[in-house]
Amino acid sequence: MKKGDQLELEIEKYAFEGKGIAKINKDSEQEDSKYVVFVHGAYPGDKVKAQLTKIKKSYAEGKVSEVIYPSQFRTKAKCKYFGTCGGCKQQDLDYQAQAKFKQQQVEEIFIKLGGFSNFKIEEIISSENIFYYRNKMEFSFADKRWLTLEEINSGKEIDRDFALGLHIPNLFDKVLDIDECFLQSETSNKILNFTRKFFKERSVSIYTSQNNSGFLRNLVIKQSQHTKDLMVNLVSFYEDEKLMTEYSENLLKSVPKITTIINNINLKKALIATGDYEKVFYGNGFIFDTIGKYKFRVSANSFFQTNTLQAEKLYQTAMGFADLSGSEVVYDLYSGAGTISIFISSKAKQVIGFETVESAVADADENKKLNQIENVNFITADLYKSFLPKLEENNLEKPDVVIIDPPRSGMHTNTVDDVIKLNPKKIVYVSCNPATQVRDIKLFCSENYKLIKIRPVDMFPHTYHIENVALLQKEE
Ligand SMILES: C[S@@+](CC[C@H](N)C(=O)[O-])C[C@H]1O[C@@H](n2cnc3c(N)ncnc32)[C@H](O)[C@@H]1O
Repeated sequence: MKKGDQLELEIEKYAFEGKGIAKINKDSEQEDSKYVVFVHGAYPGDKVKAQLTKIKKSYAEGKVSEVIYPSQFRTKAKCKYFGTCGGCKQQDLDYQAQAKFKQQQVEEIFIKLGGFSNFKIEEIISSENIFYYRNKMEFSFADKRWLTLEEINSGKEIDRDFALGLHIPNLFDKVLDIDECFLQSETSNKILNFTRKFFKERSVSIYTSQNNSGFLRNLVIKQSQHTKDLMVNLVSFYEDEKLMTEYSENLLKSVPKITTIINNINLKKALIATGDYEKVFYGNGFIFDTIGKYKFRVSANSFFQTNTLQAEKLYQTAMGFADLSGSEVVYDLYSGAGTISIFISSKAKQVIGFETVESAVADADENKKLNQIENVNFITADLYKSFLPKLEENNLEKPDVVIIDPPRSGMHTNTVDDVIKLNPKKIVYVSCNPATQVRDIKLFCSENYKLIKIRPVDMFPHTYHIENVALLQKEE
């Protein structure tokens, strides 16, 4: 067997990152000794022809070249860019099946990878909206446009030097030019198309890291789900006051419901859609949204859960797991713009949020005032280092409950050690990456914590990503 070979495979299971699993070498009686092939773009129940892309000792990877017999779970993708765009890789999988497979995946991670047993697995909370569910979209400019097969086959002359859209997976400099996306809103599409036309007509340069020059980098659109606030944030490599003023004035004429326009200037080579500083060209420079009964100010660069409606369910799940009586001191680690701290504040004696991004802490302080909450405080802390000195500095009480919601990479072991030293009765761990979550939970469980229950929450329909909430309790 070698790279490039075509194999006919029957897909048995759904695996990590949404790949289909097939097992071959069926001559062996032993289930475990079978050779595993992970197939991109295949689902349980499919019979496919797959081309092998990677061969390892214990497994291989491949991608579907033909669906011989489709799985009962397949459905027709809505988007014309499906298959090329990296945004919604599972749009051709029925949504109920997506939710079911994500649940099974989380279970497997905890049972097989984590080695856990005797804990409760609650049913996944599916997303109410499966299209137009995102409050934030981040588009990229590129001078290397990637064409779809249809575009290539159309025979039309297409300018490949200007693209505004979404990155092609694993190709950082290639962008698929997109004129319609079903993730945010029709208005978002209008802004996207206006922006492309405006800058292309003026032949404005696009930033490339190879040359470290060019103006245009990203277009970020943030749209509130509960208020009418709508932010357009153009990320550029340098300032151009005249061009930005002309862009803002024309954009507002085309889409008058925009409430704020910002220019973030990113001076770094890193391809990130946040700036070193920002200039506001229209409105107040932020949007407001609500989660439950609370209102939140969101600035261009602070983290806010991207699926607002599901965020409420995620926070309710975390609060339910914490089961607060009103007498507890709660620490909210990785507190972002203070959303979890504020959401649970009425059920706790005191909540203290720890977060490293200063603008997020500023937003959190603002959100505390906005909601007239007294029993919450936010502290700037880098949770890669020990945060215990902050307790002494700020004269803080030790926590009864710790809520943890880290980035995808999970927790630093320093922070795990700190939490163990603080000895809280309960830990509620919210994560967008169950693999790093289970790694960290194993560390807590080696120090007298017990995993009680988990509940997945789907925040990202049509992707393989899944959020998961876990409750740990201190063993007596
Ligand atoms: C998944 S978000 C959660 C934010 C918040 N709990 C929410 O629900 O909106 C993770 C947060 O961790 C913060 N973060 C990342 N690295 C950190 C670090 N080393 N120390 C403290 N906070 C960090 C990020 O800025 C981000 O706000």
